[in-house]
Amino acid sequence: MSEFVRNQWYVAAYGREIGRQLFSRTVCGESILFWRTEAGEVAAMSDRCVHRRFPLSQEPSHLVGDTVVCGYHGFTYDRGGACVAVPGQARIPRTARLTSYPVTELDGFVWVFIGDPAHAATTRVPRAPWLDMPGWTAVSGMEPLAARYSLLVDNLLDLSHETYLHGGYIGTPEVAETPIVTRVDEDAGIVYVSRRMADAACPPFYAKSTGITGRITRWQDIEFTPPCLYLLHSRIAPVGVLPNADGTDPGAFHVEVVYALTPETERSTHDFWAVARDFALEDQGVSDFLAENNRTVVLQDVAALNVLEQVIATEPDGYQELSINIDTGGLAARRMIAKLR
Ligand code: FES
Ligand SMILES: [Fe+2]
Repeated sequence: MSEFVRNQWYVAAYGREIGRQLFSRTVCGESILFWRTEAGEVAAMSDRCVHRRFPLSQEPSHLVGDTVVCGYHGFTYDRGGACVAVPGQARIPRTARLTSYPVTELDGFVWVFIGDPAHAATTRVPRAPWLDMPGWTAVSGMEPLAARYSLLVDNLLDLSHETYLHGGYIGTPEVAETPIVTRVDEDAGIVYVSRRMADAACPPFYAKSTGITGRITRWQDIEFTPPCLYLLHSRIAPVGVLPNADGTDPGAFHVEVVYALTPETERSTHDFWAVARDFALEDQGVSDFLAENNRTVVLQDVAALNVLEQVIATEPDGYQELSINIDTGGLAARRMIAKLR
């Protein structure tokens, strides 16, 4: 049985990736064609021609106005996926229609609905407003992961690995040493994991971007909305500096780390990552540093998870994992994902 959670919205791309070039991305095992209409809206439909399966993203397939012309024999489709022309005959077969997908663009992401489109309008699209909001500057990217989606969920829900896998970047001893608090909001469908370090070393990722030189108060508050959107609300301040009673927090630096976890196939995942900050907004040097550093960190995770995928693929049945306190967030996420299936 497929492991995919269907009847959900998934991030398929950044808005900047979709233009007047035919673009293909596989989401939950479905190969989907994306393009922008002349009016600028994103269209999404199956990337397989109904005639002989030629990928519509493949040259010489091309756009003519708001239609896609198959590069093999010329079947032509409108933005809703309906076939509007076939070669050599006037009659268009009734079944000549591509599966089309509900799409929405929010916060710089192109979201696609996988499953029964009748559920799209009533299914929540989680938000990451900092990626496209005044007062914030964001950098972002996507790394392909040759590992199953569930391994990325485990990875992101347990940040104690920062100390070991990402030492010298975002990890310091205090991350692994400080216990977490996990909370599940079943009604909202959100898993929260927080780790608040009162007095911690400042890792290079934050020291170089904020300019803080001493030790810090570091808060990591995770908010995961399965299946796709993960937020890490990160607060960095000089030791002892706390938010005001009214919630304002002028003495701290805030970073919103956003991941969209999109299954590509049963054994591969699109790892979208973004880092938004509320300081040094115009400083290109800080943007370049955070982009490069975060990408390096993501690639450290990718390398580790790709190894795990190989290990799982070759292990005998019946291997038993051992879980401890640091895993409560990941286990809560697994339970919530299992319920969505
Ligand atoms: S495969 Fe597309 S027209 Fe034949
Ligand atoms: Fe990591």
